[in-house]
Amino acid sequence: MVAVLIDGKSIAGKVTERVRRTVERLKEKGVEPYLATVLVGNDEASATYVRNKHRACEQVGIKTINHHLPEDYSTDQLIELVTMLNEDRRVHGILVQLPLPKHINQFLITSMIKPSKDVDCLTPFNIGLLAYDVAKLLPCTPAGIVELMKRYRIDPAGKHVVIINRSVLVGKPLSIMLLHMDATVTVCHSKTTNLKERCREADILITAVGDRSKFVLSKDMVKDGTVVIDVGIDRVNGRLVGDADEGVMEKASYITPVPGGVGPMTVAMLLRNTVIAAALNEGIDLAELDG
Ligand code: GUN
Repeated sequence: MVAVLIDGKSIAGKVTERVRRTVERLKEKGVEPYLATVLVGNDEASATYVRNKHRACEQVGIKTINHHLPEDYSTDQLIELVTMLNEDRRVHGILVQLPLPKHINQFLITSMIKPSKDVDCLTPFNIGLLAYDVAKLLPCTPAGIVELMKRYRIDPAGKHVVIINRSVLVGKPLSIMLLHMDATVTVCHSKTTNLKERCREADILITAVGDRSKFVLSKDMVKDGTVVIDVGIDRVNGRLVGDADEGVMEKASYITPVPGGVGPMTVAMLLRNTVIAAALNEGIDLAELDG
């Protein structure tokens, strides 16, 4: 078997085009969707991600501002900035790029974002809504993965989904979303024993480690016909690679490439969330703008 490549880039393009039309309609109503990002420190990968998010916003007419702050910025100073962004009525979405430097209390900062502006679904309130399956703002990477599965008619109902990641950005919210879609979900992490066996039990395997020195998904870890969603990103000899080794292609039924798989979907979902947040904060019914 040779896996079908899931074309995240193309689907992200379709989502983005739809967002562009919604932005036009919002502007006709006098609303200019506006995303504020906060980047602390000099992590190169984070800076690249934030730059890509801004570029994507520009392409669909979403206004942006980036607050790039020095590494030694304090938790108190960040609280002040997020409070200011919460109160600024022009700002519809707030994204604090993670990870934050170690001296900053990440929970405190992310949990104080106004829920209606929380385009990452990181606040306890929005994660609570997600757990009840009534969230309006879904976490970007998990939402991107679910969208890819829907577009390729990969139905997780009754399937065993194994996720290798337990972060608040990916593994935890994704496990909740897949439970709502009637999957049986196993969440694995660095302390999981028999990881190879767990992986071989998966009908759908979602891997999000992103560090080839710690983990590589090899073909002996994948049973025939498994759907592989590769969320990992690492650089090897200057080339972007995911968690899955090339041999996995011979076993999987579907696989997301890196680059061009989940990555563009994360950005597309951020654009979608920003227009949803704009509508929420301006008291506009999004259904009115659809079409
Ligand atoms: N760091 C890596 N991915 C993300 C993301 O989707 N959102 C935020 N806020 N930080 C990230």
